[in-house]
Amino acid sequence: MRYRMTVIGTGYLGITHAACMAALGYEVLGLDIDVDKIRGLNQGELPIYEEGLGELLRAGLASGKLRFTTSYEEAGEFGDVHFLCLGTPQRAGGFAADVSQIDSALAALTPWLSRPSLVVGKSTVPVGTARRLADGLPEHVELAWNPEFLREGFAVEDTLHPDRIVLGVASDAAERVLREVYAPLGDVPLVVTDYATAELVKVAANAFLATKISYINAMAEVCEAAGADVVRLAEALGHDTRIGRRFLGSGLGFGGGCLPKDIRAFAARADELGVPLTFLREVDAINTRRRHRTVDLARELVGGSFTGRRVAVLGAAFKPNSDDIRDSPALDVALAVHRAGGLVSVHDPAAMDNARKAYPVLGYAPTPQDAIRDADVVLLLTEWQEFTDLDPTALGTPTSIVDARNALDPHSWQAAGWTYRALGRPA
Ligand code: UGA
Repeated sequence: MRYRMTVIGTGYLGITHAACMAALGYEVLGLDIDVDKIRGLNQGELPIYEEGLGELLRAGLASGKLRFTTSYEEAGEFGDVHFLCLGTPQRAGGFAADVSQIDSALAALTPWLSRPSLVVGKSTVPVGTARRLADGLPEHVELAWNPEFLREGFAVEDTLHPDRIVLGVASDAAERVLREVYAPLGDVPLVVTDYATAELVKVAANAFLATKISYINAMAEVCEAAGADVVRLAEALGHDTRIGRRFLGSGLGFGGGCLPKDIRAFAARADELGVPLTFLREVDAINTRRRHRTVDLARELVGGSFTGRRVAVLGAAFKPNSDDIRDSPALDVALAVHRAGGLVSVHDPAAMDNARKAYPVLGYAPTPQDAIRDADVVLLLTEWQEFTDLDPTALGTPTSIVDARNALDPHSWQAAGWTYRALGRPA
C-alpha cells in the first residue's frame, strides 16, 4: 500500500522529513500552526539554510506530492501515517525538556483520526514519553517511536542515507508499516525495539557525541597546562579504530539546538529515574569553560583589557554550513567580549540576519576582510571554509588571531607575521 503521510511540525526536522518522503514518492502533507511559515513553504520558500533542501522542497511542490497546511482536520483526513516532528526545547528555568508542543499537537490531531492510523514520534524526548502518549490514544490509533539522527548541514543526505533506522514499536503491525515506509531507502541497518529503548538511543547517541567532544577539550586543557598539542594528540588517538577520529575536533566546543539541551534533559531525566549521570554535568562544564578560555586568550592578546579594542569575530552560526545560532558558542564569545568593552565586528556567511535580529548590540561586517581590517585581534569561532581559505598575507597589517576551532594552518599565519594562538596548542 502507498501510505499517505503527514508531518506535523515544520522545523528543521519536519521540513527535511516531509521533503525527503515526497522525494521517495509518497504523498505528504506538512502541518504547522505558524501561518506565515506555511504560506512561505507552499511557495517554495525554505525558512532555514540547508544544502539541497530548498531544491527538494520545490521539486516536491512541483510534483504535487508535497504541500503544507495549518489544518489538523485536513491532516487527519489525509494521512495514514502521521510523523510528529515538533521541537522539545529546554524548559524555561530548568534543564528538563519541554514536551508541550508534542502534547498539544497530538491533542489537536487525535480527534480527526477517524480511521486506523499510525502516529510516529521523531522528536527527541525524555524516556517514558512515548508510553505516556500511547496510553492516551484511542484504540484505533497506534504510536511508534522512530528517532531521527540527522545533522544540520547534511540533513537531506542523513535522511536519505541514514546510518541506521531505529523503530520503537508496540506491535508487529506498526513495525510492518514502518519497514514498508522506509523500504525505498534500501539496505539500511534497522533496529526494532520498544519505546523506551528507541527514545534512549537518541539521547544516548547525542550524549556520547557531546562527551567525545568534551573529552578532547579536557585533553586540550591538559595540553595547555603541559605545553602539548591537542591536534596531534587527537590525530594519534583517532588512528585507534576503537576510538576513531570523528568528533575529536578540539576547540570552542559544541552548541546548537540539540547537543547542549539534550545532555541537560538527559541528565535531568536520569536524575528522576534515580540514576544520576553526573559526568554529563562535567561534559557541559568543560564545554562552557572553552568559551571562557577563548575570551581570556583574546583578552591576553589585546594587552589585558578589551576596553576600546577592536575584535573581529569570524563566525556566528553554531557550526559551518548552517545559519542556526541556537546556543552558538561563537555568539556567546562575541557577547562576552562586547560586554567586557570590546568593539566587536562579526561576519558569518549565512547567519548574519539571524545574529543581527537576536543580538542587535553587536557590530556586523559585510565581509570577513571588513571585519578584520583595523582589528586588534581576530577570533575564528566557526570554521566556515570561507574563513579557513583566507590568505593571511592579504589581510592588511598582521595582528593576532585566536584559532578557536583549530582549523587554520599555524605556520602560514605565523609566516605572514601574525601572532597565532589556538586552544590546546603551544603558543
Ligand atoms: C547533532 C547530532 O550530530 C545529530 O546526529 C543529531 O541528529 C542532531 O544533533 C539532533 O539531535 O537533531 P547537529 O546539532 O546538527 O547534530 O550538529 P553536530 O554536527 O553534531 O555538531 C554539534 C556541535 O559540536 C557543533 O557546535 C560543532 O561545532 C561541535 N563539534 C562537532 C565540535 O566541537 N567538535 C567536533 O569534533 C564535532
